[in-house]
Amino acid sequence: MRNETIQTAVPHILPVLLYADNALEPIISAKTISFHYGKHHKGYVDNLNKLVEGTEFADMPLEKIIAATAGKADKTAIFNNAAQAWNHAFYWHSLKPKGGGEPASVLKKEIEASFGSLDVCKKELMTAATTQFGSGWAWLVMDGNKLKVVKTANADLPLTKGMKPLLTIDVWEHAYYLDYQNRRADYVNVVLDKLINWDFAAENLG
Ligand SMILES: [Fe+2]
Repeated sequence: MRNETIQTAVPHILPVLLYADNALEPIISAKTISFHYGKHHKGYVDNLNKLVEGTEFADMPLEKIIAATAGKADKTAIFNNAAQAWNHAFYWHSLKPKGGGEPASVLKKEIEASFGSLDVCKKELMTAATTQFGSGWAWLVMDGNKLKVVKTANADLPLTKGMKPLLTIDVWEHAYYLDYQNRRADYVNVVLDKLINWDFAAENLG
């Protein structure tokens, strides 16, 4: 799935998870998925539908709502819920059972051209994820014709900065606290090694 095709249905729906809720164990528990996907992600989608009902945003697909509300102080609630609905749909694709390892050759070459090596890219993702103060996201993005690692706070996302996301890691506490308590670095490290979905990132290069 290309990232621009995530969630275009109106009203907005909670996208189906492509794996069982225990498929990421022991790294991410079924209990974390049940809260993170079943409560938090669902909450953003439900809130968004309530917030846009009867407004100019009611018939807009998700990415249009995000673009139309970004940076507008009086539309913060709509932006936050729309962006979080998009970010979470993108995050679930960014993980897969038996992920990690090495990207396929096209993406690997792009990574080596931009970062020097896969290890440097992973270290930059680790640094972005662990230095994001408070809630947010670490991203691998295409910025122009170069790959970069960026971090965003709260609901913010690279789409609003003209960058194309390839994959993301959620570093809100709700993503890891039940399994790792305050040890965010342990969560990010094992996600990068065992769950990250390089195939999804490679599809998004296209
Ligand atoms: Fe989350």
